[in-house]
Amino acid sequence: MAILLPGGAGFIGSHTAVELLNAGKEIVIIDNFSNSKPSVLDAIKEITGKDFKFYEMDYLDKEKLEKVFEENNIEAVLNFAGYKAVGESVKKPIEYYTNNISGALVLLDTMRKYNCKKFIFSSSATVYGDPETMPITEDCKTGGTTNPYGTTKLFIEQILKDIYKSDNTWDICILRYFNPVGAHESGLIGEEPQGIPNNLMPYIARVAAGTLKELSVFGNDYNTPDGTGVRDYIHVVDLAKGHVKALEKLDKENAGLYIYNLGTGKGYSVLDMVKAFESVTGKKVPYKIAPRREGDIAMCYADPKRAKEELGWEATKTLEDMCKDSWNYIEKHR
Ligand code: UFG
Repeated sequence: MAILLPGGAGFIGSHTAVELLNAGKEIVIIDNFSNSKPSVLDAIKEITGKDFKFYEMDYLDKEKLEKVFEENNIEAVLNFAGYKAVGESVKKPIEYYTNNISGALVLLDTMRKYNCKKFIFSSSATVYGDPETMPITEDCKTGGTTNPYGTTKLFIEQILKDIYKSDNTWDICILRYFNPVGAHESGLIGEEPQGIPNNLMPYIARVAAGTLKELSVFGNDYNTPDGTGVRDYIHVVDLAKGHVKALEKLDKENAGLYIYNLGTGKGYSVLDMVKAFESVTGKKVPYKIAPRREGDIAMCYADPKRAKEELGWEATKTLEDMCKDSWNYIEKHR
């Protein structure tokens, strides 16, 4: 019995692959390297000392996907193959809707054909839109997404709910990630954004490394303690471990459909992040205050209680760990 990881060579997929292998699971990765590198596969093997099967392919290729199911006894699928750049999604909606939504449908249809009905979906806090209350619980209203990327997450969540309604022998877990950052402590795998990073942490890391001149802080007039945006940053290894726990939950008999926030429950501002990074690395992070970025919200942090109570999972790594591990990865890869 194996777990299939489409997009398993990417940032979150690779860290989850490591945690699944460490938990003694057999995995199969498929990836087209559209936003990752083949060397990640060797790094996963080096960290875990374990081997796994790999197919270089697009997960939209139904014929090839069926072959993967023919050749392996797949018991569950964790889908990491979605595109995830907010800004890019505004410019390329067709690509985003095709890869994320059609991709998920091809996957789910193939799973059904092979009677594999355990699915874990990488969703996002973005489905809450501009939340009315903080912290955000899973019961908060969803909708009001401001870009095609976020809308793909919202639509796929709905698709999964409809599938479950039509056939409750599916076991589905929707994981709503807050802001994943950091890297594996070995420095062998981490986040490799192509071009200039859009996200805060990789941007800060490149400013500290001297590859980018200064950080633009997008707005300092939000209704937050220091005026800059507040987010719930979560170490990617904690996030990866959440998937192992989610899988355990689905392995229980008559599981069902579940939704969990994966966050720490703590909010940090942009300036908190700059200060933490400077103090951990000893490097300066020059910044300037810039106008607000379109589509941004003031505050977003999780109430992670449900995951703790029902999965026995909680984030354990600190902001210091996040900065230290990001920096370690950058230092090893520049
Ligand atoms: N920020 C800056 N300067 C930068 C980059 C970001 O000031 O150069 C600020 C943003 O304005 C925001 C905070 O840093 O206040 C975090 O921004 P990120 O781009 O790192 O993250 P977002 O919260 O905007 O979005 C992330 C993911 C999305 C996901 C969302 C869920 O990129 O995929 O979290 O809440 F949907």
